[in-house]
Order: sequence, then C-alpha cells, then structure tokens
Amino acid sequence: MFPEIDRVLIGRETIARRVRELGASLASDLRRDIEGGGANAGDGDRVVIIPIMSGAMVFGADLIRELPLKLRLELVAVSSYPGRSLESKGAAIRSELPRTLGGRHVVIVDDILDSGQTIAMVRRLVEEQSPATARACVLLRKDVSRAVSEAEGARAEYVGFDIPDEFVVGYGLDYDGYYRNYPEIATLKREALG
Ligand code: IMP
Ligand code: MG
Repeated sequence: MFPEIDRVLIGRETIARRVRELGASLASDLRRDIEGGGANAGDGDRVVIIPIMSGAMVFGADLIRELPLKLRLELVAVSSYPGRSLESKGAAIRSELPRTLGGRHVVIVDDILDSGQTIAMVRRLVEEQSPATARACVLLRKDVSRAVSEAEGARAEYVGFDIPDEFVVGYGLDYDGYYRNYPEIATLKREALG
C-alpha cells in the first residue's frame, strides 16, 4: 500500500485480538466501578471516553465498539509532533475538555505513551474536575526513559503492546500527517524520514 513502509511490527489480526482483550478488561473494571458507586450506581450515564485526536481515532473507534456500556465520547485534540518531527516538542492542548467530568468514570485513550507529556497533561486536566475514576488506555507504550514521571501522571493503566524505541506509523499513528490509514503498526524506511 505504501512503498515507504519498512517493517510491520504488529499485524492487523494481532491488533484486533489485543483490542478485544483491552475492551473486555476495561468494560469489566468500569462495570465494577459503576456498581460500587452508591447512589448513582447503574444510572448508566457515568462513563466518558476521551480519545486524544488525531492519533487515537482508529484505536478509539475500535475500542469503544468492544465496550458494551452506555458511554459518552468526548474528543480532545493535543499536538506534540508538529510536522516532520520525530520527537515530542511538548504537548499543547488544541481544544477544551468538556466541563462535565465531575463524578464520572473517565477513560483517556491514546495511540502511544512515549515521553508521557500528552497523557500527563490530559490526566491533570481531567483530575482537576474530580472524576469518580480516571484511567488511561494506550495501544502502544514505548520503552524509553520518560520525560515525565509516573507520579506526574505519565502512565497508562491499560497497555496494548510494549514496543522498542522506534518511530512507528499506522493504525492512527502518523509521520507528518500521513500513514494513519495504514492498518498495521510499522516502521518507515530511513529515506522516508526527513
Ligand atoms: P508523548 O507526549 O511524548 O507521550 O507523545 C504522545 C504522542 O506523540 C502520541 O499521541 C503520538 O501522537 C505521538 N507519537 C509518539 N511516538 C510516536 C511514533 O513512534 N510515531 C508516531 N507518533 C508518535
Ligand atoms: Mg497523538
């Protein structure tokens, strides 16, 4: 599909299977939290899923269809890799979070946990609103020493795959805006980067 693709790290069947597993464990944890929630328990209107655009659009779309729960979707846009950069230039929020997260069970969804700045920033903004629970679910987690610590919020409670420190594209992840529609997680040939 794209001659610039070098190597497929994770194929579509493997991704699909793991997304089903993540969905099942997230759904069962959310159900337990909702049922344990006292007065409002079971009102079915307490789960808010926040996919971080644009990277999480493919993963988020697949993941929510594995959650047989009543939920609301709230998109948030964050940019950290302007243009052709291969490393984070610091996360910047490009859209407001809804002001309605108090008392909700919030799940932040992203494509990848890399430096950790994105998840840490969104988690801080969510936690300011006193949600009932806040958790993060990422498809990929890079094996790097993170710029932001776990204690500062750079962590994900649900992780699809741990991957080595390589720049990857596909299944929502881009390079300079391209390759998000490539259906597998892959690396690019060196000559395509730059
Ligand atoms: P962090 O703030 O450094 O954790 O970066 C997270 C964001 O950077 C992700 O949402 C991705 O959009 C982007 N990112 C990090 N690593 C990669 C990669 O290998 N390929 C494509 N995008 C990446
Ligand atoms: Mg992103």
